[in-house]
Amino acid sequence: MSADPGGPESLPRHIAVIMDGNGRWAAARGLPRAMGHRQGVEAVRALVRGAGELGVTHLTLFGFSTENWRRSSEEVNTLFDLLKQFVDADLDDLARNGVRIRILGSRAGLSRDIGDIIDRAESRTAANTQFNLNIAFNYGARDEIVRAVRALLEEAASGAFDGKVDEKAFAARLDTSGLPDPDLIIRTSGEMRISNFLLWQGAYAELVFLDVLWPDFTIEHMKEAIAIYQSRHRRFGGRP
Ligand code: IPE
Ligand code: IPE
Ligand code: MG
Repeated sequence: MSADPGGPESLPRHIAVIMDGNGRWAAARGLPRAMGHRQGVEAVRALVRGAGELGVTHLTLFGFSTENWRRSSEEVNTLFDLLKQFVDADLDDLARNGVRIRILGSRAGLSRDIGDIIDRAESRTAANTQFNLNIAFNYGARDEIVRAVRALLEEAASGAFDGKVDEKAFAARLDTSGLPDPDLIIRTSGEMRISNFLLWQGAYAELVFLDVLWPDFTIEHMKEAIAIYQSRHRRFGGRP
């Protein structure tokens, strides 16, 4: 839980983004959905480069949800290929620039090569501290919560955990263990829902919904969302 009371003027330390609208972007151009996803990766690249310059230190991007398995196998394969291509092409550069990469989500159901890519990205950047890039991939908040409960039960059964469950012990078993909660969650494409993203961590996040489709997202939209965030008063249940 963030100790920073936030409020006007303060910069969000951790921004999380539900990158939505790739399919509609492609459909509007008469292109296959894959082209929308491809263009979406370009928006990711630009954002990862620009976010650090804005002073944000943690960026979490929702790339593939546990519910996205309901899409065609062709589309699912495209999204997995794009993660692989992104890491292959950008890992060196990100590692050199002090970016620490974490992949949030379940490893169950992922192929061996995707698992290897995730391990490579995380281990290669584990010592970096300049900027934190988290990619939620095969991520669903309900699944994450269930996995955390299972971890607590298993550790309690083996004696590794004393069984005293509190918020801190629980949060430490989530994929985001050690990371600050998101201050701001942005969703693009005009949809106004959370779609199973960061349900625990986002308990007090400010939500900003933008009408732009993800492939058209630029650093200017990020600045716009930050300005909206900065105009709000975070109260965390208290009375300022
Ligand atoms: C977001 O774009 C990318 C993922 C969910 C993987 P969509 O593919 O959901 O695009 P729309 O919502 O159909 O336009
Ligand atoms: C949320 O977008 C998941 C990602 C951005 C990866 P969806 O497009 O899958 O969400 P719904 O289906 O509109 O709720
Ligand atoms: Mg969508």
